[in-house]
Amino acid sequence: MRGVVDCEYQDGEIRGLVFLCGMRGTGKTTEMDRLLSLCTGGVLFFDTLSKHAEVLRGYKVISSTRELETYLRVNRGRRFRILYQPRSGNLDDHFRAVCVLVRVCGFMIFAVDELDKLCGQRWGDSRMPPEFYHLVNYGRHERVSMIATARNPKAVARAYTAESEMRIFRVEERSYRDYFAERLGEEAAEQLASLPRFFYLRKVEDAPIERRGGPRGAFV
Ligand SMILES: Nc1ncnc2c1ncn2[C@@H]1O[C@H](COP(=O)(O)OP(=O)(O)OP(=O)(O)O)[C@@H](O)[C@H]1O
Ligand SMILES: [Mg+2]
Repeated sequence: MRGVVDCEYQDGEIRGLVFLCGMRGTGKTTEMDRLLSLCTGGVLFFDTLSKHAEVLRGYKVISSTRELETYLRVNRGRRFRILYQPRSGNLDDHFRAVCVLVRVCGFMIFAVDELDKLCGQRWGDSRMPPEFYHLVNYGRHERVSMIATARNPKAVARAYTAESEMRIFRVEERSYRDYFAERLGEEAAEQLASLPRFFYLRKVEDAPIERRGGPRGAFV
């Protein structure tokens, strides 16, 4: 299923802003990969730590914004799978330039791994680069929806998390659970501490919170 629903670009299960959070090794990036595999249009995966070239199969690895621009010009509106790895130079500069190209191109799912590393006080009140802020606020006009992972929810800019669908994996850190208690309620936040590996709580708008996920493939 791909198209515009309620003024937002949808591809597979992704529409608007999606946020995957939880402790290290709980399955966030794997779930993001699974959701992206359900997409039939363009996908750009920003690999903040440049560590997923082995994991994401079938993606074209690009490491410079010049090459990205050329590739997007040819593939705009088509099905593409790009893994952007900022291997050298300044990480923030790469991210900002990629955000601009995502906006100009439109019609894609923009996936950001470890978004907490790209947000922070250095960006002032918005806590995120202005180019990303623009996508968060106006991405729907450019037909861009986004999905992002983070271990530390408090480090992710509030404008992103406030509007997003959440898939929260196991969280042991007390202050992070307090954060989710505010968003999901005390009962759900308590459950987060004892979620088995690879399971998560899913919160979409006003729908009841669901438990989902679990081991897949050879691990079942
Ligand atoms: N649902 C699942 N079933 C079986 N194995 C899984 C599942 N999800 C993830 N894994 C495996 O668990 C390991 C950790 O998964 P993943 O890298 O997705 O975690 P993460 O939450 O992104 O961790 P990090 O915070 O370190 O980035 C990987 O080896 C992955 O293949
Ligand atoms: Mg990960």
